[in-house]
Amino acid sequence: VTVYVPRDSSALAVGAEALAEAIQREAAQRGVDLRLARNGSRGLFWLEPLVEVVTLAGRIAYGPVQAQDVPELFDAGFLAGGAHPTRLGPIEQIPYLQRQQRLTCARVGLIDPLDLDDYLAHGGYRGLHRALEHTPEEIIAAITASGLRGRGGAAFPAGIKWNTVREAPGDVKYIVGNADEGDSGSFADRLIMEGDPFALIEGMTIAALAVGATQGYIYLRVEYPHAHATLERALATAYRAGYLGADVAGSGKRFDLEVRLGAGAYVCGEETALLESLEGKRGIVRSKPPLPALRGLFGQPTLVNNVLTLATVPYILAEGAEAYQQLGTGRSRGTLPIQLAGNIARPGLIEQPFGISLREILYDYGGGSATGRPLRAVQVGGPLGAYVPAAHFDLPLDYEVFAAQGAVLGHGSIVAFDDTVDMARMARHALAFCAAESCGKCTPCRLGSTRGVEVMDDVLAGRQVEAKLALLRDLGETMRLGSLCALGGMTPYPVLSALEHFPEDFTAAAARSR
Ligand code: NAI
Repeated sequence: VTVYVPRDSSALAVGAEALAEAIQREAAQRGVDLRLARNGSRGLFWLEPLVEVVTLAGRIAYGPVQAQDVPELFDAGFLAGGAHPTRLGPIEQIPYLQRQQRLTCARVGLIDPLDLDDYLAHGGYRGLHRALEHTPEEIIAAITASGLRGRGGAAFPAGIKWNTVREAPGDVKYIVGNADEGDSGSFADRLIMEGDPFALIEGMTIAALAVGATQGYIYLRVEYPHAHATLERALATAYRAGYLGADVAGSGKRFDLEVRLGAGAYVCGEETALLESLEGKRGIVRSKPPLPALRGLFGQPTLVNNVLTLATVPYILAEGAEAYQQLGTGRSRGTLPIQLAGNIARPGLIEQPFGISLREILYDYGGGSATGRPLRAVQVGGPLGAYVPAAHFDLPLDYEVFAAQGAVLGHGSIVAFDDTVDMARMARHALAFCAAESCGKCTPCRLGSTRGVEVMDDVLAGRQVEAKLALLRDLGETMRLGSLCALGGMTPYPVLSALEHFPEDFTAAAARSR
């Protein structure tokens, strides 16, 4: 009997390791022949640790399960899919999962992330083999035709960026996988790296063939030790199997790939600060131009893409651009791995085509707030994303629709708040966050964030509220237009959206202080 226990951080954090040990111990005691397999997380976080037993009727899920439940589970015959209060039924039939359309994350939670044969058996490396049948121009044409846009948040068309790197003159070209997933509420990059690392490796290899790069780096945040361990092992396996190195899959082409760890700075998720850090320097933003695509790492043409963008590439090559392009809405094509977190009953990963509404995500999937109180706002796109009030929950996820509302989709994270949230304090937090994380290079971000906190403190204390709010709006405009990168440039989004949609919180705070 095969039993899956996730080794993803989200499961480990709630007892998966002790659970795995308990299952093995119990099986040994009972003389049961059991194979313990370790998968990634399915991304149904409220059910972690989620155990799956392979039966004749498919994979049967139990969750959440703790180590102390194990003897009882064996008594209940869970190895044959027996009844137990934690039994959830066939994993694929859990509505949260069943209703999703997982392309980028298709294998996450399904396979053993370190088993290359498992990867191959589930369509792995089909994209690379397809790519090897085509010229670099044809690969890029497929990426362009798929409509894939940068999933790091800026949604820049991937095909155009790849083409820029391909056409840029340079002796050496680099690929950088941006795995510095620093946004609060964001976890899709991590789920992929821990649950399907070969997808990222394959995507980067295809990108390397397309743009003519021979060296790649995965720039990983140091806060992801489990992702790091998984990636290192997967890379070693890919080298051994000949998918990396001097002769990629027998093509005669070279591609080397390694992991570099960040050191805990949020701003190093910004591509130019990331490149500085990769070069061994302090993570400070560079001014653009030149674009990294033309002069990036060590001054050479460099393709910087987010993990989600790169991990989507194998699907597009394997299934064809049309299969991807036909999904979505407007100029937002394909699917988005949405990350639902915060005050929500069922947090997790929801991959769906663009066009799904916030309401469907928050209620049909999320089940409303965890506290049972009405949801009042969500922050979409990380700590620098705008707050969206409940009145706008019918907005479809679409880059352009969000932009028209003064909001962003960013990397696809949604953090929910119930009606006890104090939006004035959330606005202050955004400014304090920026003050803490600013790299210090440009004045609007470095000084604007600190002055912004002071102005907010005046508002919260009820000092000259009207004048200070006007000053805050003015400051926000200066930061938005004058900052070198998105850190300073987007800090006004949460602040100004809170002010626009929840003005009563600002005046209430002032009134309380008087
Ligand atoms: P950007 O719009 O300046 O650039 C987007 C990408 O396209 C960059 O890689 C840039 O080099 C490239 N590019 C632009 N013009 C190009 C051209 N003509 N040819 C080739 N490549 C070109 O945006 P930026 O500053 O890179 O990112 C801002 C976004 O980052 C925000 O929208 C935000 O949503 C997101 N963000 C993501 C976070 C995360 O943790 N994933 C955290 C904070 C912000």
